Amino acid sequence: MNDCRTVSIVNWKGGVGKTTITHHLGTGLQVLDEGQRLEHLGQEEAPRVLFVDNDAQCNLTISCLGSERFEKMLGKGLKTMRELYGIFLEEDEPVVNVDDFILEGAVRKSASQSFERVDLLPAHPDLVYTDMDFAVYNRPNFKETMTGTPMYKFKVLERILKRVRDRYDFIFVDCPPSMHYLTQNAVYASDYYIIPILADWLSAYGVHSIVAKVDELNRWFELAGNGQYRSTELVGIVPNNVKEYNQEPIQSQAGIIEKLKERYGDGVFYNYLTNGDGVPRASSMACPVYTLSGSGGSATKQSVLMLRILCEFLDRTAER
Ligand SMILES: Nc1ncnc2c1ncn2[C@@H]1O[C@H](COP(=O)(O)OP(=O)(O)O)[C@@H](O)[C@H]1O
Ligand SMILES: [Mg+2]
Repeated sequence: MNDCRTVSIVNWKGGVGKTTITHHLGTGLQVLDEGQRLEHLGQEEAPRVLFVDNDAQCNLTISCLGSERFEKMLGKGLKTMRELYGIFLEEDEPVVNVDDFILEGAVRKSASQSFERVDLLPAHPDLVYTDMDFAVYNRPNFKETMTGTPMYKFKVLERILKRVRDRYDFIFVDCPPSMHYLTQNAVYASDYYIIPILADWLSAYGVHSIVAKVDELNRWFELAGNGQYRSTELVGIVPNNVKEYNQEPIQSQAGIIEKLKERYGDGVFYNYLTNGDGVPRASSMACPVYTLSGSGGSATKQSVLMLRILCEFLDRTAER
């Protein structure tokens, strides 16, 4: 056991900010100044980060590499999570080097710079078939099951990450908008999960079923794990796309955040991310909003808020 924090970003709704939050937590760790790192992380040095793009939409991969570079790499046979899942689903100890799939220091900071200490396990559009592959694949004579499903189907990502975990301080897994095998594998492999939501009624309503599903998975994994499995803890719910009036969430959204706090208490992040043009502008340039901080519009504000969310995340996961 090392002290790498593995964190999944989960919501079965799409467009709530999973990829945005994932991208900004990992890169934000490089952007914090030494004082902030000392306060919230206990070290001045920038931590080593691995991004896992666990979604066939490849949005995290594209945010990190830029679409042109990604497409070029795909054309040249880029090794991705799609292939890794296939290999590790079929065999417990495959003779494959996971390092060969990791893009080191490839995550863009700007047009000319990348983050030295952020690596990426990229996705592939065909990852969309992986859930189905998991469903139909069966090893003969496999005994250990969880409600009828062989346990090995939930441990594939964990077995992949186990091979590289000791090199990282943080692993962030960006999940697809579903709760099927890919997300279940992410939950199994993680210490923590974060739920980004839009501060609207339907988004808030959906939180309960996500928490209930992860609770249920935790119970099953514990039962099957003979004391080896450690529950995946909710770090918190992060409200995104919040609109402000006088530096406060507009009334309707303030009401929704309040309701969430009544139900989940500390389970709701104190900090939120506002809606603004900084994030989409940065996203179209394949860099985090921090790079555009100071450039006008809402980039500066969104950078500050995102770093506050990051510090809150660090404080919330400091002890375990
Ligand atoms: N706070 C925000 N302000 C403005 N646009 C945002 C914000 N958060 C996310 N977006 C944009 O909304 C879209 C969906 O966000 P994304 O992170 O891809 O969601 P998900 O991964 O949950 O599907 C993206 O185009 C992203 O750039
Ligand atoms: Mg996404």
